[in-house]
Amino acid sequence: MATSGSAAQEGSGSSVTADPVTGIVPGQYWLQTAQNIAYDGDQDSALGSDGNAESTASIASSILEYRTIQGRTYHSERGNARYWGLNDDQQNESMDINDFADQFPNTAVIGTDISPIQPSWVPPNLRFEIEDCTIVWTYPSDSFDYVHIRWLNGSIDDWGMVFKEAYRICKPGGFIESFEGAPCLESDDGTVKDTDAVGQWGKIFVEYGRRSGRSFTTVSSGIQKKAIQEAGFVAIEEKDIKTPIGDWSQDPTLKDIGRYAHLALTKDVEGYLLLATSELGWAKEESLVFAAQIRRELRSKKHHVYYRQKIVWGKKPEAS
Ligand SMILES: C[S@@+](CC[C@H](N)C(=O)[O-])C[C@H]1O[C@@H](n2cnc3c(N)ncnc32)[C@H](O)[C@@H]1O
Repeated sequence: MATSGSAAQEGSGSSVTADPVTGIVPGQYWLQTAQNIAYDGDQDSALGSDGNAESTASIASSILEYRTIQGRTYHSERGNARYWGLNDDQQNESMDINDFADQFPNTAVIGTDISPIQPSWVPPNLRFEIEDCTIVWTYPSDSFDYVHIRWLNGSIDDWGMVFKEAYRICKPGGFIESFEGAPCLESDDGTVKDTDAVGQWGKIFVEYGRRSGRSFTTVSSGIQKKAIQEAGFVAIEEKDIKTPIGDWSQDPTLKDIGRYAHLALTKDVEGYLLLATSELGWAKEESLVFAAQIRRELRSKKHHVYYRQKIVWGKKPEAS
């Protein structure tokens, strides 16, 4: 969709023309905006700090040979796996996932990832294994009651292969659940404009996914259900969720969820962003002021932001 017009940043006085194809405004614009905005009482300096790099140099393992981009660490490029997010501590703290094993203490739980990011203390019924889900899984056929795949959006070039492997390792009668999120930050009341930083966020990831061949449009494309069906699962159901970011909702539960979502995103905006924006050719300073503007807009409570998540689940047919 072609987008152009004034960027509607309070006090910025800047106008901007977005790329007619991607809808993305140039990174340079955020530097100009930062210069125009008086950051009164704003904790975000325009350029921020990059003191978050975790040195992994002393750990002798190829798995731990992370790539460093603009001072932050990403997993090393191994085999087929490409992940756009970070694997350093600042990022990992927003994704602690021991709760499932705690809730089901009599169930053996295996967590897999390409990065050895997991905490060293985990419940006794949980173990983590390094596994690249884009190549043949190392687990035997018909061996799991339940396979849960979460937030691989932007990391997968062939969802069909991923769900076929999930089907293979599920026991007959076992379940698959896929939980994915959309990158676009939206509003239903017009408070998110295309050229606001929050309006730009998703466009950046969608374009990065288009270039990398690992799409960020997993939720909007409906690929989860299609690929789960094609793998052979039956009794497929799906649920769409709008997750608010910030405490703007009138609904007390959504208000709480929005507070958590706000915390998870603003804890490390740069971490989510840097690989994508550097691939799009932005200078680090441009990414950092854009990140600062995202935090600023979310804090302002003027944008009633939510993002979409989709859960799809199904069952492997019982053995005949
Ligand atoms: C957005 S995080 C989600 C983490 C966790 N699943 C959760 O829901 O909290 C995406 C994770 O997928 C992992 N990942 C990316 N590509 C992968 C692959 N090919 N195989 C296994 N894990 C992968 C990344 O290392 C990262 O930890």
